[in-house]
Amino acid sequence: MQVTVIVPTFNEAPNVAELVRRIAAGAHGFDIDILFVDDSTDDTADVIRTVARTSPVPVRLIRRDEPTGGLGGAVAAGLEAAASDVCVVMDGDLQHPPEDIARLVARFRRGDVDMVVASRYIADGASAGLADRSRVLVSRGSTAVTKAMFPVRLKNVSDPMTGFFLVDRRAIDLEQLRPRGFKILLEILARRPLRVAEIPFSFAHRFAGDSKASFSQGLSFLAQLAALRFGKMSMFAVIGAAGAVANLAIVWVLSHAGMTDLAAMIIAAETTILANFLLQERYVFQDMRDQASGFLSRFLKSFLFNNAELLIRIPLTALMISTWHISVVIATGITLVAAFVVRFLFHSLVVYAPRRRKAESSVPSRARHFVEELDRQALRPGEL
Ligand code: GDD
Ligand code: MN
Repeated sequence: MQVTVIVPTFNEAPNVAELVRRIAAGAHGFDIDILFVDDSTDDTADVIRTVARTSPVPVRLIRRDEPTGGLGGAVAAGLEAAASDVCVVMDGDLQHPPEDIARLVARFRRGDVDMVVASRYIADGASAGLADRSRVLVSRGSTAVTKAMFPVRLKNVSDPMTGFFLVDRRAIDLEQLRPRGFKILLEILARRPLRVAEIPFSFAHRFAGDSKASFSQGLSFLAQLAALRFGKMSMFAVIGAAGAVANLAIVWVLSHAGMTDLAAMIIAAETTILANFLLQERYVFQDMRDQASGFLSRFLKSFLFNNAELLIRIPLTALMISTWHISVVIATGITLVAAFVVRFLFHSLVVYAPRRRKAESSVPSRARHFVEELDRQALRPGEL
């Protein structure tokens, strides 16, 4: 088996020789080559070229003249240029012990996963190398928030913030990646479902040089989280807005056709609720459907929620106007925005919540089979 080790570097000159020596020494039972993706402003590239001449394993260097996407962009460029499909991504400062590459490869060789993550947070993994107490808190806190925001995708991943992992390039879509900043693993995991295993590892201290982590990296991480998660929310909003326009159009048509106002409003509301649900199934929550409850159950939850919301929203708006003495336009605006957020949260956390695994033995019932078939038919691509 051939494994390419991708190492993003930014001013890591004093670490290169030691890193290459330890990677080469630890590669037993598979072939290894090293690909540095360098954005340095110092002489790291020269040092890499010098070390490459005497290295026992092949060493390649990509010097990026336009270092887009920072650390994440460098890793993406490395994945694209790697000589083999099986790639290990690791830092260039020896905080990721090169001896653990063999353990990542061994786990991958069992053949049941696309990715193996080296985690600080399982079994005897450790994060001793985090600079101080506050970095430990930031790391733990952001891990918890991240996992809460991606409950399905990160179900099997205890350490989505690690920069040390093995990935089979064939399982990811490089075109899809929009890497920015430090957290490329999260970007990969959030984009597409992968089969993931973890092994514990001890995050060591830096061998030499200084960390490039900074406050602005923290901010860019938050922006990345929002973009990855609320990418869904923006699609949800687009569909909701289209639904509101359709709602008006239907009311207009029906009342012009002579229907009573109330009947026209009810038909328009229910039609758009139904259409919105089908569109959201297809375009917003498509990646969460498989693990959620069945089609009928999702539909009922969504339908009941939307109707309840409709019933509550009007009197609530009236109450706001009478107690806060605000205009009807402002009150409607506030309730519409609030309803949008609550609706999105309800759908992502309740309607599409991963269902608890039942005992393996439960044979799918006839009804279940029927619903699943309906689900499959209703969601065939290109029908909506
Ligand atoms: N090419 C390139 N371009 N490499 C970069 C850049 C960049 O803009 N910024 C940082 N790097 C490289 C560093 O040279 C190093 O090899 C690696 O990315 C990690 O950077 P560090 O400066 O060592 O950051 P850290 O130790 O604070 O953060 C690491 O720890 C996290 C776990 O807490 C990063 O590895 C994260 O990936 C890891 O998750
Ligand atoms: Mn580091």
